[in-house]
This record gives sequence, structure tokens and C-alpha cells, in this order.
Amino acid sequence: MSEICENWTQWLKKNRFAGQTPEMIEQTTRWLEAVRDVILVYAEIQPHDTVLDIGCGTGLLAFKALEMQNCEGNVIFSDMFQDCLDDCKKILDKSGVTKGYELLKCPIEHIALPMSTVHKAVMRSVLVHVVNKQPAISEVYRVLKSGGKFCAFEPIIRSNTRYWEILDPAHIDKYEDFKRVENEIMDNPLDSLCNFDEKTIQMNLEIAGFSVPEVKLQEVKSSYVVQPNMVREWFVNPPSPTQPSTKERFLKYFDFPTVEKFMLQVEEYLTGRTISLKTNAVFINATK
Ligand SMILES: C[S@@+](CC[C@H](N)C(=O)[O-])C[C@H]1O[C@@H](n2cnc3c(N)ncnc32)[C@H](O)[C@@H]1O
Repeated sequence: MSEICENWTQWLKKNRFAGQTPEMIEQTTRWLEAVRDVILVYAEIQPHDTVLDIGCGTGLLAFKALEMQNCEGNVIFSDMFQDCLDDCKKILDKSGVTKGYELLKCPIEHIALPMSTVHKAVMRSVLVHVVNKQPAISEVYRVLKSGGKFCAFEPIIRSNTRYWEILDPAHIDKYEDFKRVENEIMDNPLDSLCNFDEKTIQMNLEIAGFSVPEVKLQEVKSSYVVQPNMVREWFVNPPSPTQPSTKERFLKYFDFPTVEKFMLQVEEYLTGRTISLKTNAVFINATK
């Protein structure tokens, strides 16, 4: 686990908002709810469906599905990390919910359910943490009933704006070296965060057996003023509790003083500036 993030629950509640202003946190929260709602609308959840939330985390999708079913169906909160399931259970108990759900500890690569048992499988930002996407997607296919739906959202990080695109070479020592390394990091086939895009996901779904899977690419453009400390947070906050931060990634290529100097120069150059970024993601809507 990362030194500055104990587990997934902490990452989801705290680290993912690191460096954001209160307005940005509010915006991120509203965006998460909007993504959740698109996934659940695609899933066309019926009152008595068995709904599997894969990599449920703190229950973003599962709790809403439970509410949509009025606790009359069966929502399976599944995650490979116990802290996530414990956190969801605490909320369920506190809310007095006693039926309509199950908790299931398993990785997406080995879902602990018999084949053809689930009406809907929903998921947000989980494949991005799985190195080998094909076995994971094939496993989702296995547990779905015939006619069942797999609806999900995944960020396509390799297509996002890169640091070097928003920097000025005149203000950054070794700009070309950092640009090359950043591109190399994004091209690493063993890095779950960036070893896929909309085309590979489409192919994974087809190989798994999904008929005419829909993979919709969404590009979001945003613009904001970089606040003090924001840049440092981008560098030191890990993208998950188990993966290295951007700073740690750069340290595999450069020595400590070089990375520190780069971070400082990026911070000096960007703080107070308005930056425009593009972030990419896909919505998956597939039927078995
Ligand atoms: C970015 S979080 C998303 C959590 C939740 N779906 C949400 O949208 O808020 C990724 C989640 O995937 C889970 N996870 C990571 N690798 C997994 C795997 N191989 N199998 C199942 N869950 C996994 C983590 O424990 C974490 O809860």
C-alpha cells in the first residue's frame, strides 16, 4: 500500500479529492453522481434483478441500485478489498437496511458466483486497476444470464492531456527528457492505468462474447486556475493505494534532485495560470 494512502476506502473518501478546492470537490461529486446515473439508466434495473456491482468501493453504484429496487431485489456489493465491504456494511447497518443485498469478497478475475446468475453487472473505474483486461471482462460475461447487461464506465487515461502539453519548454529544465519519459510511462503495456483505450475495450468485449457491445467515448474539456499546492498534490498522490504516484514513476528514470526540481518548476510555471485539460472516458453498454 502507498505510504500516504492506507486503503481503498481512504483513497475514495480523501485522496481522490486531494488538491481540489471546495468548489472542485463539489463538482467532482456531482460528476460522479451523473456517471453513476448513466450507468444505472443503461442497466435498466428491474425491481427483482440480481445486480452485481463489481469493485463497489464505498458503494457509489450499489447503494443507488438498492434504492431503485427499494430493497426488493438483490444487489451484490462485491470488491476484492475487505475494507470496502466493511465500509458499505457499516452504512447499510446504520441505515437499517436488512434485506435486498449481499456482500461478496472477490476479484473481478474470479467472481465468486456460478455462471449465468446475474441480470445486471455494473462497474465504475475498476478495469483501470486491472492489468489483464480480457480475463476480467470474460469473467463478467460468465456470470451474466443470457440477455443480461454489463454497463460500466472507465477512464481512458492514456488519451488525457499530458504534463508536457501544458508546459513551456523555456521554463522547464530537461523538458524533452520529461516529455519522452511521460510518453514512455503512458505506453507501458504492463501498467493497468494506461494499457487500454476504447478500441481495446471493444475488442475485449467482443472476444468475451458480448453481441454488438456499445463503447461510447466521451471527451470532457475543462478549464481552471491552478491553485497553490495543487501541482504538488498531482505529483505525490497515488492513483490508487497500490500504485506509484507520478513522482514515484518519474523517480524510476531520474534522480531525486532532478524530479524535485522538475516538480518545483512545474509548480512555479502553472500556479495561477488557467489551464485547459481534456479527459477521456468510455461508457460500456453490452448485452450477453
Ligand atoms: C476507483 S475505485 C471505484 C469504486 C467504485 N466503483 C466507485 O465508482 O466509487 C476502484 C475499486 O475497484 C476495486 N478493485 C481494484 N482491483 C480490483 C479487482 N481486481 N477486482 C475487484 N475489485 C477491484 C477497488 O477495491 C476499488 O474499490
